Amino acid sequence: MNHLLKLSDLTKEELLGLLETGHDLKKKLKEGIETPYLKGKTLGMIFQKASTRTRVSFEVGMNQLGGKPLYLSVNDLQMGRGEPIEDTARVLSRYLDAIMIRTYEQSDVEALAEYGTIPIINGLTDLYHPCQILADLMTIQEVKGELEGLKFAFVGDGNNMANSLIVGALLAGASISVASPEGYQPDASILEEFASHPKFTLTENPYEAVKDADVVFTDVWASMGDEAEADKRKQIFQDLYQVNSQLLSVAHPEVMVQHCLPAHKEEEITTEIFEQHAHYIFEEAENRLHVQKAVLVHLLGVPAYAS
Ligand code: CP
Ligand code: NVA
Repeated sequence: MNHLLKLSDLTKEELLGLLETGHDLKKKLKEGIETPYLKGKTLGMIFQKASTRTRVSFEVGMNQLGGKPLYLSVNDLQMGRGEPIEDTARVLSRYLDAIMIRTYEQSDVEALAEYGTIPIINGLTDLYHPCQILADLMTIQEVKGELEGLKFAFVGDGNNMANSLIVGALLAGASISVASPEGYQPDASILEEFASHPKFTLTENPYEAVKDADVVFTDVWASMGDEAEADKRKQIFQDLYQVNSQLLSVAHPEVMVQHCLPAHKEEEITTEIFEQHAHYIFEEAENRLHVQKAVLVHLLGVPAYAS
């Protein structure tokens, strides 16, 4: 594992290995055992979009590992004034030990990896959000045990979360049903790749997707970058694509709800359901910290976690 650009680059063993390391680092932190595995290492964190969880969890995680995080807003970098990504990659590779980047285009993340010489971590693009899905899978393991054989359902916009969830769920051996309105379905490349996968279904009907589901996921109707379309999307999504008690009545009786946050309450999820599942939703947010530390120690080759 040289980078974390997208989940489809991982083998099942690598995915499960990251989750196992995440659980181990969480346990050590709770027990007060220090883990200064990245002493002397610096992580550059490039942000072209807003963030609460990703920024703080990577920054705190890097500190807990004994290394240093460096926050780099695109507005303050020459990249924001047009310096090519391939030059930025070659320069930053000479100062830093790894880069986490949150941006719009997946191709920019791929270019950093191609032209740089250090590990690159995708902290969210329009296409994928791999770190979030790792945290979600880790949380589901804590609650449900095995991932293999579970039924996941995603309701709403076929965005970065939906795309990465499809890949992550199928890699982990779960099944996944996605319910999105026409025109807002997951990326065509994902649909093409998994169209005939026996554990993947796509529907416009949320009740069909959520039926007997063990875990139901949702996300905002308008992602970062879609703000201008927010009103139009609201009209399209509001009648059917909300996780509420009526929809969850067809799920497994012990259904668990996950939301990557931030949530728009009374839009994609009711306040009632959000609060009923808040414990696991905030555990999911916490697990960003633990699983991203796992990603860092694997990518930076810490011998205790050699893979
Ligand atoms: N879930 C998530 O990535 O949150 P932030 O946008 O706050 O980083
Ligand atoms: N789909 C959302 C996820 C935020 C963490 C977005 O891209 O804005």
